[in-house]
Formats: sequence, C-alpha cells, structure tokens
Amino acid sequence: LPVEPFDLVIFGGTGDLALRKLLPALFHRFVDGQIPAESRIIGVAREVLDDDGYRASLRKTLNALVGSEPAKVDQFLQQVGYRPLDARKDAGWDDFAALIGEQPDHVRVFYLSTSPDLFVDLCARLGQYGLNEGKSRVVLEKPIGRSLESANRINDDVGRVFNESQTFRIDHYLGKETVQNLLALRFGNVLFEPLWNSAHIDHVQITVAETLGLGRRAGYYDHAGALRDMVQNHILQLLCMVAMEPPSSLSPDAVRNEKLKVLNALKPIDASNASQLTVRGQYRAGVAEGASVPGYLDELESHQSNTETFVALKAEIANWRWAGVPFYLRTGKRLPSRVSEIVVAFKPVPHSIFDASAGPVVQNRLVLRLQPDEGVKLWLSIKHPGPGGLRLRHVPLDMSFAEAFGVQQPDAYERLLLDVVRGNPTLFMRRDEVEAAWKWADPILAAWAGSNESPRPYAAGSWGPSAAVALIERDGRTWHEDND
Ligand code: BG6
Repeated sequence: LPVEPFDLVIFGGTGDLALRKLLPALFHRFVDGQIPAESRIIGVAREVLDDDGYRASLRKTLNALVGSEPAKVDQFLQQVGYRPLDARKDAGWDDFAALIGEQPDHVRVFYLSTSPDLFVDLCARLGQYGLNEGKSRVVLEKPIGRSLESANRINDDVGRVFNESQTFRIDHYLGKETVQNLLALRFGNVLFEPLWNSAHIDHVQITVAETLGLGRRAGYYDHAGALRDMVQNHILQLLCMVAMEPPSSLSPDAVRNEKLKVLNALKPIDASNASQLTVRGQYRAGVAEGASVPGYLDELESHQSNTETFVALKAEIANWRWAGVPFYLRTGKRLPSRVSEIVVAFKPVPHSIFDASAGPVVQNRLVLRLQPDEGVKLWLSIKHPGPGGLRLRHVPLDMSFAEAFGVQQPDAYERLLLDVVRGNPTLFMRRDEVEAAWKWADPILAAWAGSNESPRPYAAGSWGPSAAVALIERDGRTWHEDND
C-alpha cells in the first residue's frame, strides 16, 4: 500500500528506544523509498537542542548501521527536525502546534516514547491545540501500566483525547517476521490446522531468552520485572497467535477478537497454585558471552530487590481446542544465548512398529525461530541412510528465511511504524486485550508479593534456576534444545 505524506513526532526523541530502534527503522524505510519526501520526523524531548544538534546526534548511530551510506543518512536527516518541549511547561508548545499546523493534510503520528506518567500531560497538550483531530494517531509503548488499574488509568487519560481507532498500542513482537509468518503458516497451509489442537499437540513452549542484563534501565526495570516487561505483553501475544481460532479475515477486529478470546480463556494462576505453576529468578554474578558479569543487585547498586529477571510458568487455556495442553513460557535476562522461539510439540505416535534397534520414535516438533536466524524447523523421524537395518533419525526440515529469500529481515518497528501511518491496527493491541492480559497477570504478581519467598538465584549465563527445569520435567517433558 502507498504511504501518505506524514508527520511523525517522537516524544522521548533523545531516549534509548528512539535512537536504537525508531530512527534506524525509519531510516531503513527511507532507503527503501517508503518515506514520502514531504514527510517530517520530529524528535521532541526536554533537552535543549536545535535541528542540527539533533541530526548530529543521530548521524553517528545511523552511519554505524549495516550497509548505511553517509550520503543517504544526510538525505534522510534533511527530513528530521527537533523541538525542545516539556509536557508540564507552556514554553514552545505554541510554536510546535504552528509547525504541525503547516501541513494540515498530513497523517500525524504522535509516538509517546516517554515514561507513562507524562502521557496524560502530553495528550492534554495535543488536545488543547486540536492536534488530535483529522488524520491523527497516537502510539503508546508497552507495558501499558503495571497493573490492570494503572493500565485503565492510562487508557482513560489517553482516551479523553484520542479515540480507540486513533490509538496504536505497540507490541513490537507482533512486528517480527516470524510472528507474522505464524499467520501464513497456520492459515496459508492445510497441513497444520487439522492437527492444531489437544488431540494432536502435546504441549507448546515459548522461550524468549536474552543475554543482556539490566543495562541502563535500572529505574524502569526494577519497578517492572520480567512478568510485566515480557510476559504480560510479548509472550502472551505470541501465545495468542499460536492459540487463536482462525479469524475470518486479517481485518483488525477479526484478529483481535480471536486473540481476546484466548486471553480471556487463560486459566487463573493465583496464590492457590502459583508456587506449583510459576518459577521466578534473579541473576547473580556469572559469565555471559565469555565475559564475567556482575549480579543483578550489583548492577542495581542495591542490597535488596525482589524483582524477577527470569520467569518460567505453565499456562493453560481453558477451551475445547486447548484443554489439557500446557503452554510452558519462559523468559529471562542474562541467559546463555539470545534465542526466541515457539516450539509446538506434537503427541507421540500411538503405536510403534519399529524394533528397539531402530531407536525411539521421537515426537514431531515444529519450531518457529524468531531470533536470531529467523526460520522454521519441522523435526521429523526419518530412516538413517544405508543398507543396514532400519534405524530412525530425528532431523529437521529446516528453512532459514535469510537463506531462502536472501534478504535481511526488517526490524519489527519498520513494519509497525508504517502500519500506524497507513492506519492499520491489526498488529496492535486493542484496549480490551491489554486489560485481559493484566487480569491474568495481576493475581500472579499478587501471589508473589504475598509469599515470603524471594526470587530464586541463578548464575548469569545459565538457563535460570533449576526449579524452571523441574517445572517442565515434573510433567515428563523437557525444554527444547536445538539438537533434540
Ligand atoms: C522490550 C523489553 O520490550 O523488549 C526489553 O522492555 C527487552 O527488556 C526487549 O530487552 C527485547 O526485544 P527484542 O526485540 O530485542 O527481543
């Protein structure tokens, strides 16, 4: 679809997300010729800078991107400007409104990449100047709040100025190629859907492992923790894409209605069962990617914190399709490798016709790899080649997207930012989805807060506390390893 000329304003324009993700994503779209020449990208933050100062701060980052050319970067930066503004002070807002008003026909996107406590003031300002009218959209970064109550407050505050159809709640995992590929795989093939239920699927695993530690995000992260930062949004969204019923089309509401039903069908985890169904951990010093790294509390420069940097849990979806099929979810910081994948483990064959000498008939697994090396593997049993007896081997039908298509996968934000400009919210969270996800997460957080246990320690560079292994092994299953 063609992209209309737009003005994209990034509040929090000097922040980490803007510099690391949003501007590089826009630059890549520019290089691909998808940013109309009249479009403007405007960074806004409190820092006093002018257009040139802002461009200079971006130039280095953009020049360092793989394959970027300085001349292209300079061309792109011609479309980028900056305005210093404080949501809580009047100075500069009149000029800003006049600047945006210069292009009344442009699509306007206001990306709130700031702390959520500023959302109410920012939206009030935009409303005061009528900037919410016409083709205006607001983008909210996750997590929306830290509980159902705070999410409702944010949604109400924003909702007073922007209506639901103008509000784009971003979850960048939905912009990842493999996640969208899940739609293609499930609904563009007849092979999987007949087997996609509790009769044939034994369990599902979703792992989002990171090697990074706390980094420079102490203030935010210690207040959030892994359940709020990763599970309530990214991982539940992945779970929805795996588990939803076939939507009748890709229209935004058809897809989001189906996801909502999954979220509403999640079995509650609360104080009565959290100790059996959840494991939380916090990393100690260890070795990550070959280097010694400090523990979480040292990074935080604190003696005490009960914030979890790792979660493993067993979720269940109480409906006809999924009853009795566990969804094992895990995520953590400072794990041995950066791997995100969805593993669909099928049931064993009902009866083996092979001798013991053939070796075991291993269960089929479909593995969707989100990162790194995006692709799909379908693990099958085949005969080991050669004239000897019939011996079974467990090997993958292996498709790496990079090899198959010879293109670098676009970053999730590239797709999503242009979806906002086009006004397509299919890959964004509707208000009721966010609420349903908090309704499930809140009792888990309450159960942890009410227990006198602390998160279990794990060494940086390990796969989390041993209790996370026990969580799945208790059920006679194991976490997937690529050489399974
Ligand atoms: C963010 C979380 O939403 O996702 C971060 O706040 C996390 O803590 C990041 O590191 C992971 O994203 P990606 O795309 O690198 O897997």
